[in-house]
Amino acid sequence: MIDLRSDTVTLPTEEMREAMRRAELGDDSREGDPTVRRLEEAAARITGKDAALFVASGTMSNLVALLAHTGRGGEVLLDGDCHIMRSEMGGIASLAGLFYRPIPSRRGAPDLDEIGERLSEKLSANKLATALVCVETTHNSAGGAVLPLDYMARLRALTAEQNVPLHIDGARVFNAAVALGVPAAGIARHGDSIGFCVSKGLSAPFGSVLCGSADFIEKARAYRRMVGGGLRQAGIMAAAGLVALERMIDRLAEDHRRARRIAEGLHAIDPRLTDPRLVETNIVMVDVGHTGSDAKTWIAALAKAGLASGAWSRNALRLVTHRHIDDAAVDETIAIFRSVAAALGRSEGSALKRAV
Ligand SMILES: Cc1ncc(COP(=O)(O)O)c(C=O)c1O
Repeated sequence: MIDLRSDTVTLPTEEMREAMRRAELGDDSREGDPTVRRLEEAAARITGKDAALFVASGTMSNLVALLAHTGRGGEVLLDGDCHIMRSEMGGIASLAGLFYRPIPSRRGAPDLDEIGERLSEKLSANKLATALVCVETTHNSAGGAVLPLDYMARLRALTAEQNVPLHIDGARVFNAAVALGVPAAGIARHGDSIGFCVSKGLSAPFGSVLCGSADFIEKARAYRRMVGGGLRQAGIMAAAGLVALERMIDRLAEDHRRARRIAEGLHAIDPRLTDPRLVETNIVMVDVGHTGSDAKTWIAALAKAGLASGAWSRNALRLVTHRHIDDAAVDETIAIFRSVAAALGRSEGSALKRAV
């Protein structure tokens, strides 16, 4: 089976397994785990921040960031289709106690004029104070789109002017960095905090790291405990995360190249399926709206032919390239799409004939 459902399906490398076996361990919630500390130091270094905190997941990284920045009060400005809004079970409201205001966005980038209009450092008679602005790069729902650096700089200037913190959900920030050709710190410098996952394209089995100022991370550590995320001998996981940071970032360019090839192959089958120009990183969105079959039907037919994919909406599929997808899998993916498009086209044709 070719599995393009997500880059989270990646398995740890042999080097990660060996590092996990050998990891020096301690109780991270008492005197500290030396391997976790090494990962946190490496994460702080790579993002150019003072400090970092190892957490269970990207979702926990965002939740703890929301809590630590806001202290459970005020309004958060963010894109309405970002991961926090779409896939984190409403934790922003139900756990962090925050009011969220979705801002109209283009390819995952909330409109700066709208943000400027809404930003308000102080509570007033008819306006909640803005507690935080959040952005996501790469942007999952926007098909792996990368926020441009000049956009980040302008957003940073806007939020700084009002003393409002900016959190970057950088679950796939290394994909963004590779696509932009800059170190991750070149993106992270525009935010007060950034979280990234080692468990996605970087292939580690577990974990994310939240990075920011020393004060912020001290608060985040307390909130991590509040949400049940205090860790013990977590060095066994952090060891794989260290290998991820040392060895797995540069190869992300291969995932991007293969995603682009898949998009070009699908575009050649039918230009309406996808636009290769929109593929910036390792995610390809496929629009099947014009085919007469919905995403569920496509997914079932693709799975029968040996390709696992995910539904993004009623008429959209999401394909994600990763370490286990080589050039042969790309060729096979395109061939499977071609045969499924033909088969679904034929059954659509006969359904039409029957209707007439
Ligand atoms: C942009 C973004 N943020 C956060 C997450 C959450 O990560 P996790 O699945 O580790 O909770 C994801 C997961 O896909 C994501 O794409």
